[in-house]
Formats: sequence, C-alpha cells, structure tokens
Amino acid sequence: MSTKYNIVSLIRKKRDGQSLTSDEMKYIVQAYTLNDIEDYQVSAFLMAGFLNGMNTEESAALTESMLNSGIVVDLSSIPGKKVDKHSTGGVGDKLSLILAPVVSAAGVPVPMISGRGLGHTGGTLDKLESIPGFYTDMNLERYVEIISKYNLVLAGQTKEIAPADKKLYALRDVTATVEFIPYIAGSIMSKKLAEGIDALVLDVKYGSGAFMKTIDDAIELAEALVRIGGQFGKRTIAYLTNMNQPLGFNIGNWLEVEECIHALHGDGPDDILKLSNLLSGTMIYLGDKAGSVQEGIKMSEEVISNGKAFQKWIDIVEEQGGDSSVIKNPESYPKATYEFELQSKNEGFIRSMNSYDIGMGSLELGAGRKTIEDVIDPVAGISLKKKVGDKISKGETILTGFTNKPATIEAVTELLYGAVEISSEQPKPERLVTHICDSEGTRAFEL
Ligand code: URA
Repeated sequence: MSTKYNIVSLIRKKRDGQSLTSDEMKYIVQAYTLNDIEDYQVSAFLMAGFLNGMNTEESAALTESMLNSGIVVDLSSIPGKKVDKHSTGGVGDKLSLILAPVVSAAGVPVPMISGRGLGHTGGTLDKLESIPGFYTDMNLERYVEIISKYNLVLAGQTKEIAPADKKLYALRDVTATVEFIPYIAGSIMSKKLAEGIDALVLDVKYGSGAFMKTIDDAIELAEALVRIGGQFGKRTIAYLTNMNQPLGFNIGNWLEVEECIHALHGDGPDDILKLSNLLSGTMIYLGDKAGSVQEGIKMSEEVISNGKAFQKWIDIVEEQGGDSSVIKNPESYPKATYEFELQSKNEGFIRSMNSYDIGMGSLELGAGRKTIEDVIDPVAGISLKKKVGDKISKGETILTGFTNKPATIEAVTELLYGAVEISSEQPKPERLVTHICDSEGTRAFEL
C-alpha cells in the first residue's frame, strides 16, 4: 500500500475545514481496511468530516473506495437487468419479503443482500431466519448459483462485500458518527453496488420510526443516494415514505413473515399492499419488463393473484434450506408463551402511534437485540389491532404483545401506553408516500 500520504496531515486538513482530494479519501479507506492506520486516527477523521461536512467529490470517493475494498459481484452471465430495493429502515417494514418474490416472479432477477435489525428497526435477515432452517450465510459461488436458478437470492453480507464499510460502520457506531448523510449514503450504496445490480429502488423513510425524523433530512439522504447511483451508472429511483406509524399490523420477526404470507396471497393490509406494489412495480419497470411504473404495478398485482409470487416464495425458501410447511401453514408455527393486551383507557380516535417506541417495545419483548450477542426470539413482537385514524372505545384492544420474557411485560405495557395517543377528534390521514426522487430531481408524489 502506498504511503504517499501522512494520515495526521489528512486529519489536520479535514479538521481545518479543507476538502480532501479523491486520492486522499481513497488512501484513508484503503489504509484503514488493510489495518495500516489506527482506529483512533480514523475516529478523529470521521468526527472532523462529521463536523465540517463533505463535498460531493469527497462523498463519491468515500463510496467508491468502500465499494472497491471488496468484490463487486459480476452477474453479467445472468440475462436481464438485475434490480434490488433498499429501505433505510423502519418498524414493521417487511416489504423486502414480499417484493423479492413478486419482482422475480415477474421476470426480473433480484440479487438481495440484506442486513440485521439496527436499534429499534427490524432487519430482513432476522425475519428470514425465523423460518426454520432458512440460511442467508453463503459464499459467492452459491449466491450466483441460486440467482441463476430462481432469478432471486436472499443473502447476508459476505466478508468479501464492502469490508471497509463493516469496519467503518463499527467505528461510527462507537464514535457518535452514524447520523451523517455522506457516511450513511456511502455505507448503503457501497453494499448495494457490490451485489451485482443494474438498477436500484430506494425506500427512504422519515418520521418517528425512521433514522431521518424530518422530510427535509430524508430528501437530502434520498438525493445523495440517487446521485451516487447515477455516478456509478445505475438507474436509481427513491420514494420518500412515511414511518410515523408502523407499516402493516405486525412487528416482530415471525409475525412479519406471517403478514407477508397473507400479502403474497393478496390479503395484506392496505398500506403494505400499496407500498409493496409501488416498489415492485418500479423495480419491474427498471428491470425493463414493463414500459412504465403503472404497468409494473399491474404485473405485481397479477403475479400475486395468479399465485406465481407465492410459488416463487416457496421455491426460494426450500432452496435456501427453509421449512416450507410453515409458509404453507403459518398456523402451525409455535406461539409465544405469554400474550398481553393493551386496552384503551378512553374512547375516541387513535391520533398517533410512535413507531420508535413501538419498535423499542417489540425489541424489549425479545424481537430485537440490545447487544450483538443477544439472541432473537422469532415469536416475540406486537400485533396492532388499530392504526392511526381508527375509532376506539374504552376497554377495546389497541394491540397484543407476544413474549417469552414475562418480566418485560409491565415496563413494555407502560412504554406502549405512552406511544399511543387518543383524541376526541379524528386526525387527518397522513400520506404514505410524499415524494419521488430520481435523476430528474425531487418532486411531490401521490400514491
Ligand atoms: N444502514 C447502513 O447500511 N449504513 C448506515 O450507515 C446506516 C444505515
């Protein structure tokens, strides 16, 4: 590795508010990946960047060097445009499990590398692993083999994919430098660009259950993600979507898989079906199998109603070692030992549901991790009986909690009471999708 740069001088340059060249940025990422510079030096650099900001050139160099720190999978032997979706994370966001089989059933190859739950948000890998036997840990050979066979693969991040992100993310996590758009965008896009895609759909969430709390921050992130996609020659479309209440009714790993099984039979909650059809319709369009997003949405609805998407789901579950009997018969899945209900203390309308607190409640019941070593309980979680805007009477159930940790119930009940606001007036419904952002810019979008 070249030592043409002095890391202390680069930290000083950034500390003093100057911009680094692409070469200098790339040096830092490469040297760190090879353990040629120390954690404490990169920590100082990350904080200097966080406080002084980064320009577009620095952000692009950061992403490029993280991407090139590992293998960029070559899927050119597989016919067709490969398209994936990424969500910036939410509560009850299980859409990947629906749109992956839908889009691949419509003829577009979907190479999907997902992550685990982060903080109050759930992760696709944890949800998939609630299916007995299902594995997501595989080498690249197997990854390519599965997608060649089924137009679909659902994998975890291998050590060959963007190793710099893995190191940098761990460092950001313990140096209070996670919430910075150039770092988040670089981290997300380096992994997505490495998996072998030609195009990408992004679900950028804002609101109480999202990492970006305001629409303005979410737009800034969406624009950074779309710009990076364009710089790497990948068509990228982002939607800005509302996470002020959980998506669908179920939160928790198996509970969410169960909700997806119903959705793949066309029997899902309205918000889930609407958003997953929009995202899969956009993926089908970017995969050149539909002439427009609208046509893509129609194709999504078709593969759900003719059973092709559900069959694809069964095929991939079986191919990746999962027990498809629970997918065919979800009622046969074991239940949590303890169930409790949150009953309304007043009558009126559900005015708001704080998704962050609901996500944290579900985590406390066993559905998420507080430390890396924590083991997830697949049956733990929350099933909402009401959503924002619904009428509720005194004593009626707002939600049911499921856990194998009875000692958590009291504190979680209190947390959840605080998360649900009831008012005498029906609130105005909030829009599920507010904006679209692509190479032509950001504009309002109505679903
Ligand atoms: N998800 C990622 O992959 N990286 C981030 O930095 C934040 C969310």
